[in-house]
Amino acid sequence: SVNKLFVLPGDGIGPEVTAEVEKIANFLTKEGIARFEIERGLVGGAAYDAHGVAISEDDMARAGAADAILLAAVGGPKWDKVPYDVRPEAGLLRLRKDFNLYANLRPAICYPALADASSLKRELVDGLDLLIVRELTGGVYFGEPKQIIDLGNGQKRAIDTQVYDTYEIERIGRIAFELARKRRNKVTSSEKHNVMKSGVLWREVIIDLHKREFPDVELEHQLADALGMQLVRRPKQFDVIVTDNLFGDMLSDVASMLTGSLGMLPSASLGAEDAKTGHRKALYEPVHGSAPDIAGKGLANPIAMIGSFGMALRYSFGLTELADKLEAAIAGVLDKGLRTADIKGNAPKAISTSEMGDAILAELKAR
Ligand code: NAI
Ligand code: MG
Repeated sequence: SVNKLFVLPGDGIGPEVTAEVEKIANFLTKEGIARFEIERGLVGGAAYDAHGVAISEDDMARAGAADAILLAAVGGPKWDKVPYDVRPEAGLLRLRKDFNLYANLRPAICYPALADASSLKRELVDGLDLLIVRELTGGVYFGEPKQIIDLGNGQKRAIDTQVYDTYEIERIGRIAFELARKRRNKVTSSEKHNVMKSGVLWREVIIDLHKREFPDVELEHQLADALGMQLVRRPKQFDVIVTDNLFGDMLSDVASMLTGSLGMLPSASLGAEDAKTGHRKALYEPVHGSAPDIAGKGLANPIAMIGSFGMALRYSFGLTELADKLEAAIAGVLDKGLRTADIKGNAPKAISTSEMGDAILAELKAR
């Protein structure tokens, strides 16, 4: 069957890193290993320059018709002054909202070859492989009321509201348990039930779901502050961590520093399953931004983008073995000492974006 990929290069280094993914996808298609049909669209500053919007209705429709969306990054100083509702990030928010992408998956993998670039000592992170599952469409970032009230006495009051319904907790929990079954079968659920009602409900719903549907998966609970501490103390104890929008935002940024470089980190955002087809809308993107400081120079590390494609193979296309091979190819290239500038460390020289893409493709061919 044909795997339909909608590619949104976006801004800055986006076109450079997505070109490396297309190189790999086209190779796989040509060799008959898997068939990819690639369409390209515009998002962010690129869409604003062309159409005056952050993403066009036509591109939204084409994104909706694809099996997976691959987005690099949006934004840059060039668009800092464009109106709020068409600013580059609005394109990203629109995709998340319209496709109801409620589950954000952020793996933190520490390749042995890069363990010395971690913020932690090598022995703490060597072989690290954890996955943070963050709730992305609810919680305090969206809850109402959300306002600043003028109290009139020279004082103001800011209000944000944390809201979670049972179904929101249950569906994110289900994703975490299902993913754990394909990994090391352990879920750590994190909230602050000691001081937050949303934490009380979160814990209750997760425990109930576990009992009903996933008794075979190991479940533990850690308060979010304690989990932050454990992440930098003994990160290898974790397999899948499931948590809310706010805690997940913070904890995944902490976890990213365990792995070496921003240029290495992929992510996936998954939506609800279509009742008829069982297909899930999904957006795959690197964690890094558009890196305007190095754009157009061939300096960008394409690994986060290629890794995001790997996640698409795994979660949207069911090509698990191919995803394993691609990840092994990335590890293999790093083992050989090949490095882009951002991860150069003590390596004698850095290679370019396209040289890294070529090296990964060569490694993949050899497997
Ligand atoms: P950034 O992630 O773009 O860059 C931070 C630093 O990391 C820079 O020094 C950059 O050169 C480096 N870097 C990032 N990705 C790299 C890669 N693949 N290879 C090598 N080096 C890499 O974050 P920054 O500078 O805060 O933001 C730049 C622009 O990107 C802004 O307009 C921001 O709004 C946007 N942005 C977009 C995101 C998205 O589309 N999801 C996420 C974060 C930022
Ligand atoms: Mg963040």
